[in-house]
Amino acid sequence: ENESSVSITVVGASGDLAKKKIFPALFALYYEGCLPKHFTVFGYARSKMTDAELRDMVSKTLTCRIDQRENCGEKMDQFLKRCFYHSGQYDSQEHFAALDKKLKEHEGGRVSNRLFYLSIPPNIFIDAVKCASSSASAASGWTRVIVEKPFGRDSESSAALTKALKQYLTEDQIFRIDHYLGKELVENLSVLRFSNLIFEPLWSRQYIRNVQLIFSEDFGTEGRGGYFDNYGIIRDIMQNHLLQILALFAMETPVSLDAEDIRNEKVKVLRSMRTLRLEDVVIGQYKSHTRGGVTHPGYTDDKTVPKDSVTPTFAAAALFIDNARWDGVPFLMKAGKALHNRRAEIRVQFRHVPGNLYNRNIGTDLDQATNELVIRVQPDEAIYLKINNKVPGLGMRLDRSNLNLLYSTRYSKEIPDAYERLLLDAIEGERRLFIRSDELDAAWSLFTPVLKELEEKRTIPEYYPYGSRGPVGAHYLAARYKVRWGDLG
Ligand code: BG6
Repeated sequence: ENESSVSITVVGASGDLAKKKIFPALFALYYEGCLPKHFTVFGYARSKMTDAELRDMVSKTLTCRIDQRENCGEKMDQFLKRCFYHSGQYDSQEHFAALDKKLKEHEGGRVSNRLFYLSIPPNIFIDAVKCASSSASAASGWTRVIVEKPFGRDSESSAALTKALKQYLTEDQIFRIDHYLGKELVENLSVLRFSNLIFEPLWSRQYIRNVQLIFSEDFGTEGRGGYFDNYGIIRDIMQNHLLQILALFAMETPVSLDAEDIRNEKVKVLRSMRTLRLEDVVIGQYKSHTRGGVTHPGYTDDKTVPKDSVTPTFAAAALFIDNARWDGVPFLMKAGKALHNRRAEIRVQFRHVPGNLYNRNIGTDLDQATNELVIRVQPDEAIYLKINNKVPGLGMRLDRSNLNLLYSTRYSKEIPDAYERLLLDAIEGERRLFIRSDELDAAWSLFTPVLKELEEKRTIPEYYPYGSRGPVGAHYLAARYKVRWGDLG
């Protein structure tokens, strides 16, 4: 019998992320029987709150995607009984020492393993790490710390943060989260590619014309303007979520599925990338728009955003990997808020079939008739492949159809939230889906010069109406590399 215990402390327990994602994910893991037998969850924050108040707060957001299922209520009560609250300052050794005392009581002499989830703003980050690690780390067993972006705002500040973290923690103890890596279809990328003979040999410049990584949201920064204005969409989405997907997509075959083997390959491909240049970036910002009698606010209408802010809420970029596999293949990224839909997808456009056999039956648009593989990360997870086929009948006209793997029809089980996967991995010490510090450095060095240039020049973004398809500049950028965005039909 394993008599060790796990204590999970959510530092910044009253924040949005904790309420919306972390507690619900912990509950889902509990519901599924994935948490160890002896576990406790502590919420840590500055405000005064009783355990009962924390439970009340948490219970409101356990909307639990499982709540239609049997005995959800009962399970929820059981889970909530294991949740506690500790009020303290983030920079107080004393307050963390008091937490330590409480944790010890719950651990009841068992081997103690402790996981801290830091869900707090960057300016108090290091203090919290310092206090948690020196006053509340596990006496026996492991201590791990999950940290959330922003990991700095450029190469220098990120390196400084890493250096500061490493005064208190070893790289092994740091779990840098990028929740996109916990998404089912992102995890499936390697399976799709490395376990299917029909894809693996095609995965190179020889057969792939371009790759598109597209992120869009149909809402603005609503309430997060204060944070967002200091970062902008390139740091918020591209430098992390989209670039991580790109690394997984483009890396060489890892030696094994071991965390270090995978991360070694990711770093290699990131380091083979060309530093992004200003002429390969288009930025945009949404402005207010009225439709059907409803007025949606513009970015700078947000009270927490300076009126003259030029922070991009949209960006498109063309990136290149200077290695043998990908030489010359444009990797186009596009990310934006307040657009016409919410979607994250990867589009792989293949080259033309050589020769001319069916070209005249295709119609005027040869580009439209090349194969395209689409991996829809969300919503409605799917993988589909566009192929050409003959329109049935006596003529000879070609049509395009989809071979479609739609997860909701293929699988009845619901897809877990990314945070469930990642929290479970952190508890189990699986580092595959977390960002190593050298990956982070490589990611920043790609984007830092362009970010600096944009900011020094105060480049004016192209304005686009809330709810639109974004700035037309994105089309010109793509066209320069003979690419058409696949999401626009
Ligand atoms: C976060 C960004 O990392 O990802 C947000 O800071 C964004 O701006 C969010 O809205 C998107 O995540 P998801 O899982 O809802 O697509």
